[in-house]
Amino acid sequence: ASAAVPLKAITNRHVGSAVAANHLANEADYRSVLTREFDNVTPENEMKWGVVEAERGRYDWSGADAIVGYAQRTGKTVRGHTLVWHSQLPDWVDDLPAGELRSVTRRHIATEMGRYRGKIRAWDVVNEMFNDDGTRRASVFQQKLGDGYVADAFRWARAADPSAKLYINDYNTEGLNAKSDALYNLVRTLKRQGVPIDGVGFQGHLAIQYGFPAGYQANLARFAALGVEVAITEADVRIPLPADPAKLDTQANYFKQLWDGCHAVRPCVEFTTWGFTDRHSWVPDTFPGEGAACLFDTNLRPKPAYTRINP
Ligand code: XIL
Repeated sequence: ASAAVPLKAITNRHVGSAVAANHLANEADYRSVLTREFDNVTPENEMKWGVVEAERGRYDWSGADAIVGYAQRTGKTVRGHTLVWHSQLPDWVDDLPAGELRSVTRRHIATEMGRYRGKIRAWDVVNEMFNDDGTRRASVFQQKLGDGYVADAFRWARAADPSAKLYINDYNTEGLNAKSDALYNLVRTLKRQGVPIDGVGFQGHLAIQYGFPAGYQANLARFAALGVEVAITEADVRIPLPADPAKLDTQANYFKQLWDGCHAVRPCVEFTTWGFTDRHSWVPDTFPGEGAACLFDTNLRPKPAYTRINP
């Protein structure tokens, strides 16, 4: 952790990281690297429905409040994550009949966005709605509310906080493929219908063994041509463990390509990583045998990927 110039000073885009409120509170070194390097934060879990309203009508805003408070004190923007998502949903929401699911989803958006109104630069309104083959995921929202839930969610979101940029966000959409085609067609249709969508988030969860997404920059550019912002929202590049210098070099190359592609497309306003240190990353828990996916190592030393971006 000794870079002369922090990441946030070498770019005119927002540069962010997912953060966890408990690490922010308990680890001074974590907090200081975050504060020094980044100018945007995304709550890793603290704004998800299953966290804020695990039990119907009983809200817990403690983690979200802590992160928004930190951002306000340190002059950072916040990416709100996330409002309509099939995962980390409370069981009680899963079990609702259609009519009630609709009213409860509307209220959820109004309540959460209303609480932080004016303090969130961008919201991931709808997250991970597509399957990899480009069909719509059979989420509870899709199954009970039908195709229109997406437009509804964006309209409710605009009403709840007109100052926030409203995003659709997904993974495996970085390159040109069936999934990004489906996303592109949906965003084009929503724009034509006047649905208030402002941006498209590309998560950027990559793995060195699967290759770099083909057509990445052209893909960002075609979305930008629709008149929306684009953002890399959750970048990490996982490695089959153990890491070695060759793998770390490939990882550095992937991070650099992600970074450069964003900077080559004018409406790419943000480059955010899903955590910044291998000390705390969702990767080893989610992909057994893989890890070392972040820009800083477990001791908060910059890895080759960091140095490739910020030499
Ligand atoms: C992950 C978190 O990092 C984990 O801590 C949690 O257990 C599961 O969710 N796509 C997303 C994020 O949009 O919300 C996910 O975050 C990672 C994949």
